[in-house]
Amino acid sequence: MPERIVYLDYNATTPLRPEVKDLMIQAMDVYANASSMHEAGRKAKAEIEKARAAVAALIDAGDSSTVFFTSGGSESNNTVFMTMYALAKTGSRKKIITTAIEHPCVLNSATHLKQEGLDVIFLPVDDEGKIDMDVYKRELTDETLLVSIMAANNEIGTIQDIGLITKMAKAKGAYVHTDAVQAAGKIPVSVQGWGVDYLTLSCHKIYGPKGVGALYVREGAPIEPLIRGGHQERGVRAGTYNNLGIIGFGKAAELALAEVDEYGRNIRRLRNMLRDEIVGRIPYVRINGHPTDVLPNTLDVSFPGAEGESILLSLDLEGIEVSTGSACASGSLEPSHVLMATGVGPELAHGSIRFSLGKYTTEEDVRYVAEKLPPIIARLRSMSTVSPEEAVGLTRR
Ligand SMILES: Cc1ncc(COP(=O)(O)O)c(C=O)c1O
Repeated sequence: MPERIVYLDYNATTPLRPEVKDLMIQAMDVYANASSMHEAGRKAKAEIEKARAAVAALIDAGDSSTVFFTSGGSESNNTVFMTMYALAKTGSRKKIITTAIEHPCVLNSATHLKQEGLDVIFLPVDDEGKIDMDVYKRELTDETLLVSIMAANNEIGTIQDIGLITKMAKAKGAYVHTDAVQAAGKIPVSVQGWGVDYLTLSCHKIYGPKGVGALYVREGAPIEPLIRGGHQERGVRAGTYNNLGIIGFGKAAELALAEVDEYGRNIRRLRNMLRDEIVGRIPYVRINGHPTDVLPNTLDVSFPGAEGESILLSLDLEGIEVSTGSACASGSLEPSHVLMATGVGPELAHGSIRFSLGKYTTEEDVRYVAEKLPPIIARLRSMSTVSPEEAVGLTRR
């Protein structure tokens, strides 16, 4: 048995906050169909509208009727891309600009539209994960229908300048979507300040339940349902309301907004402490992502000469729960598409670990990791056929 459990995978998902859990336990009795016209139905609908207002406030949406509840970030992102597909079929604009480092639900939606004949550009990023603004400027034309760029990256935490990106896109008459799943609750998010047309949220990243999310649609921006059926969500998203999930989302959003500044300060201090401990105790490490425009909780580190999955499993034996950038797809370990896009090369990408801290991370947790990690890396490196120097020399761009 490990001495303690240290969960550092908050970008994958977060635990339910006790305040959210308590409210959801009460909400279990809110069983009425929120579309029903009787009193119980109206009460359920009132709870849903309260949650909608809290979610709208989290993203500074002004009018809460711009917020549509979905089953999560993946559905929200797919809805935007399929709306664009419908528009492209009849309109003259057929170009979509996104990035090489999006979440797979955007990458695969974009790839699908490319296969269907749309002109889809995956913008390159620099070695800190910022999009190449020169390429963006060049690709942005009067043909551009949509620009979809994530506000903050889930693996390396790099934050993009969505305000500037939107301003440039608007000058060409394009719609703008941002996936703010990782940004919300960690940094201030303002759809009105940024000027975007669409924004995606997911509740389980902000200490709420899984299986519920939202899509912001600017008043007047086109939107096509992905799921057709009843008139719920004004016909944009059919299906009986997920009372429990939506009520939990409202509470999580309310608390996330109230605490975003305090969260940023606390978590940044702990993340920097972990970063400094790792850099100070382990030779040859590379910190991935942007040094300043980065989520306060995210630390992605490459350990050349050690293999990511082996590090992850060794840490797991010590009770430390993290992620690698690699995805185990059809039996072969693919290096992270995000790290590969930043040019680190497969050797370093394979030896990378994402530490994502959260609300319940403590200084003791950081000290525990700082103590357990160095011998693990030293042991794995001693077993490797490639030395850290060679790995860096072989792969560094
Ligand atoms: C940036 C980003 N977008 C979208 C998603 C998908 O959200 P969901 O799990 O709610 O479908 C995730 C989840 O990992 C994410 O990190």
